[in-house]
Amino acid sequence: RTSAEGTASGKVILFGEHAVVYGSPAIAAGLDRGAHARATRLASGPSTLRIGDETVVADGSSSNDLERAFHALLTVAPALPPVHVEARSDLPPGGGLGSSAALSVAITRAAEALARGQEEDAAIEARVLERAAAWERIFHGNPSGIDAMAAARGGIFRFTRAEGARPILPRQDLALCVGSTGQPSSTRETVGLIASQHAKDPVLVQRSIDAVTSIVGNAVLALEAGDQRALGDLMNMNQLVLSGLFVSTSELEELCALARASGALGAKLTGGGGGGCVIALVPPAFQSDGTRDEAREAKSAARILDAWRGAEGR
Ligand code: PMV
Repeated sequence: RTSAEGTASGKVILFGEHAVVYGSPAIAAGLDRGAHARATRLASGPSTLRIGDETVVADGSSSNDLERAFHALLTVAPALPPVHVEARSDLPPGGGLGSSAALSVAITRAAEALARGQEEDAAIEARVLERAAAWERIFHGNPSGIDAMAAARGGIFRFTRAEGARPILPRQDLALCVGSTGQPSSTRETVGLIASQHAKDPVLVQRSIDAVTSIVGNAVLALEAGDQRALGDLMNMNQLVLSGLFVSTSELEELCALARASGALGAKLTGGGGGGCVIALVPPAFQSDGTRDEAREAKSAARILDAWRGAEGR
């Protein structure tokens, strides 16, 4: 074989971002959009990566994060042979939807499949998280691994650093509306911001982490019971704690308020914050189950979308 492909999902964090870095549980859900990569064999190195208009070479001592991340991914033992990879993400970059992790998983799957052949799928998957972690450390500093896990497995799951992923079986489908502030969010910066607060006043930050732990515990129960009203309330509470940690912004708060005023059961930022995206829980009455009030649904859904379209142009 001279080329091979790999794909991966984007994700939203439903509950528990940031607290998860400190060992608390979080809940993530895979998206149906994600990243795609195609790897082609090279006779000799260095390996190259093209994403959109940008082509980089794998270089561990480069000042370019992408060059170092690509190098780090390829050199996790056993090192991968020289490849050229063409990759693309269908997710907004820096938006907290896991674009970077999805790219790392798609690139790893393509390059591993080329090196080892498809019959060794299990061996490939065993190294996906390790290679993705090496990539994510370049961009994030101290990634919890939840993004890479979501990119690799999809679905809805509870995650902790110590225990990894445990699937959750929600009683009902969830309909989420994702709204973007249009502002990039730097997870490295917001994770660093909370780390410096933690260094100054560990007791205060720990109180927020404990609050998130109990929100996540209740959210698992609400998902399993199909109690979407409780789930929405818990999203609002999680947002309050996140704004108390200073990772929300006035644009994120405005989008949450718009979504709630338009009928969302709850809304919060998702991912690193400081910009990026908001998720809102769309009430079951607005979802397509064939038994709803369609006129009301269409109107409310359109209002949510319009509000967000307005905010996106900012
Ligand atoms: O990559 P983002 O922006 O979706 O954020 C990931 C979630 C954090 O908890 C903020 C960081 C982490 O590594 O878990």
